[in-house]
Amino acid sequence: MKSIYFISIFLSGLIFSIPCQSQTTIAVETATYAIVLQADKENMLSTVYCGNKLEAAADYTGIAEISRYPQGNAGIYNNAYTPAGTWNLSEPALQVTHADGNTSLDLKYVSHLTTKPDANTSITEITLQDPVYKLTVQLFYKTWNKENVIEQWTEISNKEQGPVILQKYASANLYFTNKDFYLTSFQGEYLKELQPMEEKLLQGTRTIDSKLGTRAMLLGSPNFMVSFGGPAKENSGTVMLGQLAWSGNFKLDFEVDSYKNLRLITGINPYQAAYTLQPGKSFKTPSLIYTLSNTGTGEASRQLHTWARKYRLLDGQGERLTLLNNWEATYFDFDENKLSGLFKDAKKLGVDMFLLDDGWFGNKYPRNNDNAGLGDWQENVKKLPHGIGYLVKEAKAAGVKFGIWIEPEMVNPKSDLYEKHLDWVIRQPQRPEKYYRNQLVLDLSNPEVQNFVFGIIDDLFTKNPELAFIKWDCNAVIYNAYSAWLNKNKIPQTHLYTEYVKGLYIVLERIRAKYPKVPMMLCSGGGGRADYEILKYFTEFWPSDNTEPVERIFLQWDYSYFFPSIAIDCHVTDWGKQPIKFRVDVASMGKLGFDIVAAKLSENDLAFCQQAIKNYNGFKDIVWHGNQYRLLSPYENPAAAIEYVSEDKTTAILFSYLHSNRFVINATERPIQLKGLDAAKKYAVKEINLYPGAKSTLEEGKIYTGDFLMNVGLNPDVNYGRTSVIIQINEVVK
Ligand code: GLA
Repeated sequence: MKSIYFISIFLSGLIFSIPCQSQTTIAVETATYAIVLQADKENMLSTVYCGNKLEAAADYTGIAEISRYPQGNAGIYNNAYTPAGTWNLSEPALQVTHADGNTSLDLKYVSHLTTKPDANTSITEITLQDPVYKLTVQLFYKTWNKENVIEQWTEISNKEQGPVILQKYASANLYFTNKDFYLTSFQGEYLKELQPMEEKLLQGTRTIDSKLGTRAMLLGSPNFMVSFGGPAKENSGTVMLGQLAWSGNFKLDFEVDSYKNLRLITGINPYQAAYTLQPGKSFKTPSLIYTLSNTGTGEASRQLHTWARKYRLLDGQGERLTLLNNWEATYFDFDENKLSGLFKDAKKLGVDMFLLDDGWFGNKYPRNNDNAGLGDWQENVKKLPHGIGYLVKEAKAAGVKFGIWIEPEMVNPKSDLYEKHLDWVIRQPQRPEKYYRNQLVLDLSNPEVQNFVFGIIDDLFTKNPELAFIKWDCNAVIYNAYSAWLNKNKIPQTHLYTEYVKGLYIVLERIRAKYPKVPMMLCSGGGGRADYEILKYFTEFWPSDNTEPVERIFLQWDYSYFFPSIAIDCHVTDWGKQPIKFRVDVASMGKLGFDIVAAKLSENDLAFCQQAIKNYNGFKDIVWHGNQYRLLSPYENPAAAIEYVSEDKTTAILFSYLHSNRFVINATERPIQLKGLDAAKKYAVKEINLYPGAKSTLEEGKIYTGDFLMNVGLNPDVNYGRTSVIIQINEVVK
């Protein structure tokens, strides 16, 4: 596409740009949006537009000339991949030290190419080159048209004579023009994960980052929301939902420049991460994944959910297993007999599987609490004299599948593994060890450690082919970052954070090559290890150890901005004071599991759970694969309401809760307007998950039009006596 460039004229003390003929315009388009890049006469590539797609592609060439920015930093603020060390005064995307020690960098547009692997996908690849040094950068933009999702990453190639040090190597560098920008970042800590905080971005840089090493989330999160022109709203306004898909240290820089426009630079955290790139080698950054919507966060989330289910999450369109987990029921205190009893409880409850948690391994140092045994993955002969194989058979005889917990990347200093392979452990050899949950992290940059970790899983499956599920935990961060292996191989220590994550992906790749389908849950001592790179290998994740159901309403609400419900594991536990109905109803909004002593349930509680699991089996398809609508925010109302609608709009389910008692008698005085139904269809509504003996205050089977339900609404009648109400909405065909 031919286009324009700028020449500068001096006018009343200010320099402005006016357009002239230039060379290339590149439009990266989805169904609704376009990111437009343009190379000027000097081959400097800038982002000139990010907004609604234009009907005529030729119109993109005229976008840049409409703006009149002072010349000073034009072409640098909106540089498509901002180089450091020449004339850039703002946050760079790429900062390097060349083979000769020079730290300057400039990047010029060379060429681009767009391919279409299938009808819904396109990949645009843009090549940039330093005019002085033989360093090449390729910018990749992959789009999923229908879902309005874009994935961006970068490949940096060293064609110089010697090694180049990458000091900062961003995945993506975006530029947005608008009046105001609001950022919602998600901060937290253990048991308080993913707390949204919205702020107006003012001139300067707001950085969200993480230095945890083994995981991205916990304190901060690589998930973010940018709203343009005003705070984010659920059903209106332009918003971007984004995530850096990297399971380690990340950095998100939101810089409002002196033109009051937003520069967004995201990637691996450069903190202690200078990366030496040998001649002839390339470095591929992780991806930034994002979606844009003009109709608020609701639509943006649905786009991400659909994309994730179809294209990213392992088996995203498949099924999941309901389960009974023994963690909070037994902790480390169990044996074969106790477990056999729990298999029967799982069957009685009506779930698909029993999941054996922590504590089943370790002999020299038995895993009877969390300060010993981690790393020694042999069955503890006292607790399990007949091994895992026997348990799998026993569970099968009881009528349930069997799954197992592992934490393969970690080691307790009190373990055989630590004693035999100290060089496999991340620790500073000259400093005292510092523990997180009494454990240390294994050095996954070391191929031997990768083999060891792969071997744990491979061994379990080889010996127990009927093993149905793995819960993969990760309960420590990296302290005292140091790798004996990197040292031995003369690789800089600053590679460790990056190579750790790459090593993890290598292991997971091998596991999935051999065991492509078996469901695996990603857990991380509470939330914090769910991103769209690692979720290529996992079917689901654990959002938090906090299972208090009122907290969960908020937490699941927040996770739902970025992740579909089929990926979010929600277990019913004894946390909190809410009745069993409330707890089961909340957990039924994700992938349902139980972590309670089922045998201690009262007759009515058990009967309720059994019926609720049957009901869940009836509607889980909509929760897992349907469209989600966040109807009533718990942040703004004493009640919360979330609806799921099947793709064909024939059936829907409404969850509603009272979570705060302040000034409330009836929390839903007004009806709740449903969404996503077919206005022309007729629907019968019915309350389900009633506690034994309870009667619904709604007329069973009452018929409404979709038109009525979406415009007038439906009243679940949530109040003091009915703190949790689930309503099924089914099309009536006459
Ligand atoms: C972490 C997990 C829990 C449980 C324990 C076991 O805290 O989040 O669900 O598996 O580890 O030690």
